[in-house]
Amino acid sequence: MALKHRFIVLDGVEGAGKSSQLARLANALRDAGEDVLVTIEPGGTPVGGAIREILLSPAHTITPLTEIFLFCASRAQHCDQVIRPALAAGQVVLCDRFSAATFAYQGHAGEAGEELVVRLDAEATRGLVPDMTIILDLPPEEGMLRKFGEEGADAADRIERNALAFHERVREGFHRYAARYPDRTAIVDASGSEDEVFANLRRTLN
Ligand SMILES: Nc1ncnc2c1ncn2[C@@H]1O[C@H](COP(=O)(O)OP(=O)(O)OP(=O)(O)O)[C@@H](O)[C@H]1O
Ligand SMILES: [Mg+2]
Repeated sequence: MALKHRFIVLDGVEGAGKSSQLARLANALRDAGEDVLVTIEPGGTPVGGAIREILLSPAHTITPLTEIFLFCASRAQHCDQVIRPALAAGQVVLCDRFSAATFAYQGHAGEAGEELVVRLDAEATRGLVPDMTIILDLPPEEGMLRKFGEEGADAADRIERNALAFHERVREGFHRYAARYPDRTAIVDASGSEDEVFANLRRTLN
């Protein structure tokens, strides 16, 4: 598949299909001869991985401001150590979650506020902005069902454990992000089969 974007993010609610679709996209791009780096937030570096463990551990109570700083710390490390060098080396970077997630979860659904998140994220990334952010859009209860089945979320991490109403606000936050940055964000319906969602994704990227 032909590609005009070099730094692509897939984001969306829990269980929307980000990881599955990212793997498919990576395969399609590699088949087309691209050198592809697949990476994830929070994480993507050893330091980011350590921060991810802190962020997701249900053992911790983390204040809203601390939470943003931790996500932004992971992102700063990721941008400097991995994403910028990969783009400079000509790789296509596919990232599982990025700034849109911080905007939706911490900025809109959480208590921090969108403007604070936008400000701190700009510092963390030093202005590195994805060429395209694809929001996989799905009712959060469907995503949770995909992830955890009918039994519910016993194994859920600290953020997944939030009430469904929180995840509804997260979904709304992703729509607000897309409305705020319409030239570099697209919403893709993620409710169909994996094949259908991938077809939508390809159409959007082309
Ligand atoms: N279109 C789909 N229809 C039904 N099930 C799906 C679809 N896409 C993915 N799944 C399944 O739903 C679960 C969640 O998918 P996936 O891990 O890709 O989502 P995710 O957005 O990466 O989730 P997470 O928020 O945990 O990172 C997996 O078991 C996957 O096989
Ligand atoms: Mg995933």
